[in-house]
This record gives sequence, C-alpha cells and structure tokens, in this order.
Amino acid sequence: MMTNEREYSSDLEGTSFSNEQSDLVWDHEDVLDLDDFTVQEIETVIALAEQMREVLDRRIARAPALRGFTVINLFFEPSTRTRASFELAGKVLGADVISVSADNSSVVKGESLIDTVKTLSAMRADAIVMRHSMSGAPYLASTYTDAAIINAGDGSHAHPTQALLDIYTLKQRLGSLRGKKIVMVGDISHSRVARSGIWGFSAMGAEVVLCGPPTLLPAGLNDNVHVSRKSSNLPSVQVETDIDVALDNADVVMALRLQKERQQGGLLPSLREYSKLYQVTQERLSRAKQSHVLMHPGPKNEGIEIAGNVASGSNSTIEEQVTNGVAVRMALLYLLAGKGQVGAN
Ligand code: NCD
Repeated sequence: MMTNEREYSSDLEGTSFSNEQSDLVWDHEDVLDLDDFTVQEIETVIALAEQMREVLDRRIARAPALRGFTVINLFFEPSTRTRASFELAGKVLGADVISVSADNSSVVKGESLIDTVKTLSAMRADAIVMRHSMSGAPYLASTYTDAAIINAGDGSHAHPTQALLDIYTLKQRLGSLRGKKIVMVGDISHSRVARSGIWGFSAMGAEVVLCGPPTLLPAGLNDNVHVSRKSSNLPSVQVETDIDVALDNADVVMALRLQKERQQGGLLPSLREYSKLYQVTQERLSRAKQSHVLMHPGPKNEGIEIAGNVASGSNSTIEEQVTNGVAVRMALLYLLAGKGQVGAN
C-alpha cells in the first residue's frame, strides 16, 4: 500500500493535481471490482475526481497529463454512457483513445477474447476498458496482458466505475455516506450496478436495503432477514420486498433498470404488474426523507421502473451521475497510469 505526501502532478501545460488535503492511497494495477478496495483507496479516487471535475468544468476542458498513454475501449455489449465517458475521460487528459466494438472486430471472425486482448496488448495499449457479458471476463483478460484492465461491466457481476461515480455523487450531495439509508429498487439479481454498489456503499458506512420482487432478488437474500457477512460473501444488506416499507425514511433511492428479458424468462408476470408494484413514483417517494437523493445509472425505462417526473425532478441526480462519471474515470486512468506509483509522473 502506498501513501505519498508529494504533490501528485503533471507539469504539462500547468496541469497539477494535488493531494494536499488527503493522503492518496492506491495499490491497483487493474480495476476489476470494489471488493478489493479499501476505504482509503475509494477516498483517493473521490479526492482526485473532485480535481478532475474542476478540469471538466473549465471552458476548455483539457489537461493533457496522460499524453502518450493509450486507452483501448473493448466493448462486447452495447453501451452509450460508459463507453463515451471513458473516451472523454481519456481525451480530456490527452490520452489516445481507441474504441473497438465486438460486432465489427475480429471477434465476429471467431477470435477468442484472449487473442483479442493479446493483440491489443501487443499494440502497446496501456489500459483496456472492457465490457463483456460473461461475469469474470475482465479477470481472465488481466492475466494475459500487462495493460491495466478496467472492468466496465461484466455480466451480472460487477461495475466498479459506476459504484465509484455513485459514491462521488452522493458525497457531493450528502457529505458523508455514514449511516445513510440507501435503497436500491429493481432487478437486483441481474444487476452488476447493485453488486458493486453494495461493496462500495457498505465500505463507506451506508446501510444498504435491496428491494424488488422475490424472483429478482439473489437467492439466499430473499427471506426478509438481515444477511450477515458469514452467510454471504457480500457485505450485510437488508432485503425488503415491500417497496413502501423499503422507502421509509430513505436518504437515497436508486432505481435499477428492468430488462424485458426478465418477463420472457418467466421471472415476472407482466411489466404492467411490475410497474404497479415497484415503480419509483412521487407518491411512493413521499415516504423517503424530503431531501432524499434519487439515482439511476441509466439507461432508464421511464414508466416501468421509474416515473418520468421523478427522473427529471429536483431530487434527481441522474445528470450529475453522468458528468461525475467522466471525472471518476479520469481519476482512475490517471491513477492507473502511475501503475500504483502515486506521485510518479
Ligand atoms: C448499467 C450497465 O450497463 O450495467 N448501465 C451503465 O453502465 N450505466 C445498467 C444497465 O444496463 O441497466
């Protein structure tokens, strides 16, 4: 674990990221999930993201601290915001960013994931941002390359950069997450956003409540009990199938996308019934704290998991989440460019 008091800086064109207020702690060559992040490492990312956000808000948002650094986006699944966010993050910092999507790459000619990763690695990619439908794919990839692998979503397993941007957004709104009640509503079982969120929010001291129909809650969690660390490899969470009970006195409400495939797969009687029972509506939110923060990672299906007026209401942070996502990804690329050597530049 490295802590470095020196100024964390790049001298390029006056760009300087400083760590005056906080000790930067960072010991990662890849970002695969948040289960191996310490609280100090999460704080490091947030502290740096704050500075990156300041760069992003400049009239000319450029701070070329990563000139000569090559980022390859390798997406085997559709994405709008995550892919664009990484692309922008790299470009704002002056990195070279290339995006490869599986449907027009040699993957359609039968090339394996390992060959694809080895090929990109041979081109001297410094970081590969990867999204894949198979849980664990980025872990496998990381064993075949020296490039830093960033997991941009693997199956229903993890989405660490989303959790970090959510933590940053909540810190901006609430100050601290300690003791805050965060309720995630929707398809928890298939949500990599939920899983990484559970790790991250719990590490920051929040109380996590999962809410959804029993068929969309992970097995072993749907018995309405407090699940202890001993019986699950996820941190303790509370499970509640009644949304009105779940939302009671909530500080944060996060709606998660409901995929239509769930209905085809027999996990839901109908989308109409789902939205009747679980849609996050203004009326239901009246049970949450008046100052509650409303989140959604996107893409959202208004009228199914979330009401349109709620998504665009004054408690919503949906757009801030998107902007903060760029800042968090800038921070991560910057940290990974140092390969764990905080202060090395
Ligand atoms: C999520 C994802 O792809 O995991 N979106 C995102 O990255 N913001 C959520 C989803 O697809 O429902």
